[in-house]
Amino acid sequence: MEVTFYGHACFSLRQEKTNILIDPWLRQNPMVKEFPADLKPNLILVTHGHADHLGDAVEIAKAADCPILSTPEVGYHCAKGGANILAGHLGGTVRFDFGQVTFVPAWHSSSVTIGEERVYAGNPCGFIIKFYGLRFYHAGDTSLFLDMKLIGERHSLDYAFLPIGGLYTMDPEDALEAVKFLQPRTVIPMHYNTWDRVAQNAEEFKAAVERQTASKCLVMKPGETVQM
Ligand code: NI
Ligand code: MN
Repeated sequence: MEVTFYGHACFSLRQEKTNILIDPWLRQNPMVKEFPADLKPNLILVTHGHADHLGDAVEIAKAADCPILSTPEVGYHCAKGGANILAGHLGGTVRFDFGQVTFVPAWHSSSVTIGEERVYAGNPCGFIIKFYGLRFYHAGDTSLFLDMKLIGERHSLDYAFLPIGGLYTMDPEDALEAVKFLQPRTVIPMHYNTWDRVAQNAEEFKAAVERQTASKCLVMKPGETVQM
């Protein structure tokens, strides 16, 4: 299994012919040097409508002829753009050949930009992804919340993708508390250093995680692929 971090909150999970792409913000993403030519997702997950997450989802979904799984409000917007959608909502689980995807809460907001207008787009979410036996949590954009403890207890996570940038999401201090609640085998920080206003030191976060918890921390560089 391969996991690629494209920068910000965009990851892909790949095993053989299955390729899941999460929050594909690529063209405008300052961490992405070149639009990846080899993107062939079977499924795109979108945590919320903000441009740095919904990103290029509609364009990629149409080119790859794959569905976008998101909330009904984000899905409605994507369907208007011509993409196939699968809509679910908090607490919902969708089963696939590779495993399943469960919608979990995220404390944030969600809107889509249509022309000059910002239209509210329901609740944001995170995802628990069971992918060929491994359990991934993509938290989306969120603050720290106590129910992460419940997520940790219910799902025995292998990998947690957690925002650490601050300002719009948890900062490293709160993300460290999140790791204590979630108890993943490995935490991978995201949503930092994209802009100066979310500048953080991921190596310091890693040191704190590995000093204070039983979890490992894997700091991925934008564009990096690792075998899981
Ligand atoms: Ni956001
Ligand atoms: Mn964001």
